[in-house]
Amino acid sequence: MAFDIDRYTKQSEGVEWGDLDLDVFDEQPLDEPTLRTLRYMCDVEYHTVCYLRDLLTTPSHKEPEVGAFMTMWNREEFWHGEALAAVLAKHDITVDYDVLKARRVKLGWKDRLDPIKQSLLGNVVGHDFVAVHMTYGAANEYSANAAYHRLAKMVTHPVLTPLLKRIAIQESKHIAFYATQARKRLEASKKARVITRFVMSKVWQPVGSGINSDDEVTHVMTHLFQGPDGRKLIRDLDTKISALPGLEGLKIVERSMDNRGVPA
Ligand SMILES: [Fe+2]
Ligand SMILES: [Fe+2]
Repeated sequence: MAFDIDRYTKQSEGVEWGDLDLDVFDEQPLDEPTLRTLRYMCDVEYHTVCYLRDLLTTPSHKEPEVGAFMTMWNREEFWHGEALAAVLAKHDITVDYDVLKARRVKLGWKDRLDPIKQSLLGNVVGHDFVAVHMTYGAANEYSANAAYHRLAKMVTHPVLTPLLKRIAIQESKHIAFYATQARKRLEASKKARVITRFVMSKVWQPVGSGINSDDEVTHVMTHLFQGPDGRKLIRDLDTKISALPGLEGLKIVERSMDNRGVPA
């Protein structure tokens, strides 16, 4: 799978939703569990800028292709957040980007330590950190893509389903970048493979774990991935992640669902 960064940066644009009639939600509102999951997703999308800030303190920002991608990626994720916030607003749920950012600032040292820790880790493992970052990103984008497709199928709503599918298409472009980068870097370095395997098996948690309570993460994971169909998706995710060099046999997503008690 090749990834053309020049084409990507030229063609990157916000997810299209101007043609979707949000007033349909007045007649066909979404149910409570769906709204709760959407709120979580919106939060995660809006938090991308915080990850971006964290990553600017690591060796990744010195890599031109990675830097170029992350600039556009950050914008696209922000626009996903905006589209989901508009859907939530139709249900009187406000997710305000500025409020969210302010809350982040108020978190103070707890929040500020994360980029510092990450940059320490970045400097300790040096150049191979980029392989970890790209692999982590690939796992998260695979997860995001699966989550949007899954929710689109669960709701079968005339407006939400197409919107989620459009977001999922952009997530698959993100997968293409991260997975291509991860594969290249893991193939090139045994040390990168060892460190990345260690980090993925010890540190990886579902997207949104760091910014939501454990209860909230478990609720959303259960809503999306419980039952045989959900479990199949979880195993597919592990198959994709463990296809990367050095990650053979890892089942990080399934293990994390089991630890949270998500019923298979
Ligand atoms: Fe996104
Ligand atoms: Fe993404």
